[in-house]
Amino acid sequence: MDPILPTKQPYASRGRQNRRGTALILRYCILALLGLLVYGICDQRNVLSAVSEHIPSALSHFSEVQGPNNFNSPNDNISTTPNDNGSQWAPKDLYTSPTTHYPKFGKCTASFGDPDPPYEAAIASHALHNEIHGYPHCILREHMIRGLWSKHGWIMTIIGQELAKPEEQRLQWLLWHDRDTVLMNPQIPLDIFVPPDPEFSHIHLLVTNDRNGLNNGVFMVRVNQWAFKLFASALSIREYQPEIVLKYTEQSGMEEAIKRPWWASNVAYVPQRWFNGFPPDTEKNEDNNRAHSREGSLLIHFASNRDGLRPQRMAHWGEIARNRTSAWDTPVELMLYQEEIAEFWQRVGKGESYEKINKDIGGRMWSFLE
Ligand SMILES: *[C@@H]1O[C@H](CO)[C@@H](O)[C@H](O)[C@H]1NC(C)=O
Ligand SMILES: *[C@@H]1O[C@H](CO)[C@@H](O)[C@H](O)[C@H]1NC(C)=O
Ligand SMILES: *[C@@H]1O[C@H](CO)[C@@H](O)[C@H](O)[C@H]1NC(C)=O
Repeated sequence: MDPILPTKQPYASRGRQNRRGTALILRYCILALLGLLVYGICDQRNVLSAVSEHIPSALSHFSEVQGPNNFNSPNDNISTTPNDNGSQWAPKDLYTSPTTHYPKFGKCTASFGDPDPPYEAAIASHALHNEIHGYPHCILREHMIRGLWSKHGWIMTIIGQELAKPEEQRLQWLLWHDRDTVLMNPQIPLDIFVPPDPEFSHIHLLVTNDRNGLNNGVFMVRVNQWAFKLFASALSIREYQPEIVLKYTEQSGMEEAIKRPWWASNVAYVPQRWFNGFPPDTEKNEDNNRAHSREGSLLIHFASNRDGLRPQRMAHWGEIARNRTSAWDTPVELMLYQEEIAEFWQRVGKGESYEKINKDIGGRMWSFLE
């Protein structure tokens, strides 16, 4: 019997009717609650989509930058050639001419908290490189994960976002750079570092070691499931193996992960000065320190800060970058970057150890073809 329907109970007491009234009200309340619940679930879907809409908007560069811009079109006034007369580059919005291409290389970094002028200037030093080659630049501005782990979180966010796109629209490689890097040679395209296909199509990560082991201030990673899982793995070592001491937190997490058999064979250790060199020693005539960038290197990484002079050093090299001197700002064809990269992969192919190759190649000066 449905208690809501009035029943034939002529002798029902007032108390009983009241109880029935209460039951009715309760029933309506439950119905209303159910309705609210259903609405809530639908609404939550809105919330979820709002979240997922928020992520791509953080990555809005990816949709805005649909490919290499018409950098070399005759109407374009930005010079790709350096000059020695101290004139500064003139950044301008080059992302306005849509093409059917999707960028294949992207760059990412993180800098959050109150804007710190030296670091903002260092990040800005990448702009010309991005403009010349059409690289989207994804800059994390929120502290995603406690400690320094936002790096992993952000890379996973970007790679995850790319993997959710049709394959032909995805980025293929990402360059991560810490915010303390100054882009020195905007004429170096990132694709020269990509391991030759198909012999090395299993290499998904290009990293450099310094004397303390892995230096993950700058590295290149292929956008694929392997990479997504690698960073998930590195990110969760703390939880799964708390007994492992991570001396350099997220850097050690990544170092620990890539040493493991599951990942190790897909990682290549390349000469540090290819894209992660430290400031050159300007006192020396020829600085062949393996850890140091050379004139013409892609960038300088200001990793060590023991003397507290990092901001000044970054400002100094930032000025040299802005001055676009031909010593640093050199077309890749005029350098032996590519020959060296070819030699590197050839020797890897022959079975030489990364350590040996890097010791040899990394210590060379660069000759210019001018
Ligand atoms: C670009 O260069 C052309 C010719 O040199 C000049 O007429 C034009 O005003 C310049 N445009 C901009 C935006 O500077
Ligand atoms: C300096 O460089 C700018 C831009 O390339 C050029 O227009 C200008 O003529 C140069 N000035 C001198 C003195 O070489
Ligand atoms: C950059 O160029 C300006 C103008 O020529 C010069 O005064 C300055 O010393 C240069 N900066 C560096 C760090 O070389």
